[in-house]
Amino acid sequence: MIKNKMIFKACIFDLDGVIVDTARYHFMAWKRLADQLNIKFTEKDNERLKGVSRMDSLEIILELGNMKPDRKKKEEFAALKNNWYVDFISRMTPNEILPGSLEFIQEIRKAGIKTAIGSASKNTPMILGRVGIEKLFDAVADGNIVHKAKPDPEVFLTGAHMIGIEPDKCVVFEDAIAGVQAALNAGMMCVGIGSPAVLTKAHMVVAGLHEMSLSKLKKIKI
Ligand code: BG6
Ligand code: MG
Repeated sequence: MIKNKMIFKACIFDLDGVIVDTARYHFMAWKRLADQLNIKFTEKDNERLKGVSRMDSLEIILELGNMKPDRKKKEEFAALKNNWYVDFISRMTPNEILPGSLEFIQEIRKAGIKTAIGSASKNTPMILGRVGIEKLFDAVADGNIVHKAKPDPEVFLTGAHMIGIEPDKCVVFEDAIAGVQAALNAGMMCVGIGSPAVLTKAHMVVAGLHEMSLSKLKKIKI
């Protein structure tokens, strides 16, 4: 009999940039706000917003424009951006699921591995619903129930708790530097989605879930 070397029991997925490409919608909505405020905001600046909460993202943009509005104004700006963003994501279709995601998640679920979402986004339920993948996850930990932003480990620890798996038996899939750090802070293994030059702290880095398989995951080095 072949000895089962598998040391993980669950996979926790960040949503934006890992399973769906919503980063461009975030960018389009932030850009619209920045244009209205006469703030120069480029795609390069947008990289800094990945994995960062809505209010923290707004702070970064306001800092770029050297603006210091009061709290009420900030809430107004964040609401404006979110309305535009929701307008984009409410038109999403299953075609916008990133390549290989469904196949990989289905493969690990068939092997008995639990799956959860760990995302900062308060729009997680709408996105999962629009692309029709709610049933692929045993639990959803998102910005509606978690309040400490990545790199705080809260979102991943909450996800692990919801599915009843110890943190050291979880693998996180993340595209943001702050998200990789959050996984490590949670005591979890981490597969970075993107470039190894950027996600230097991840245990393994792939370009996307299309490059993942159960056998590759078993080779992860801790
Ligand atoms: C993260 C995104 O998943 O969610 C960030 O990477 C975003 O760009 C954050 O700001 C919060 O999202 P939302 O949908 O609650 O504004
Ligand atoms: Mg992300």
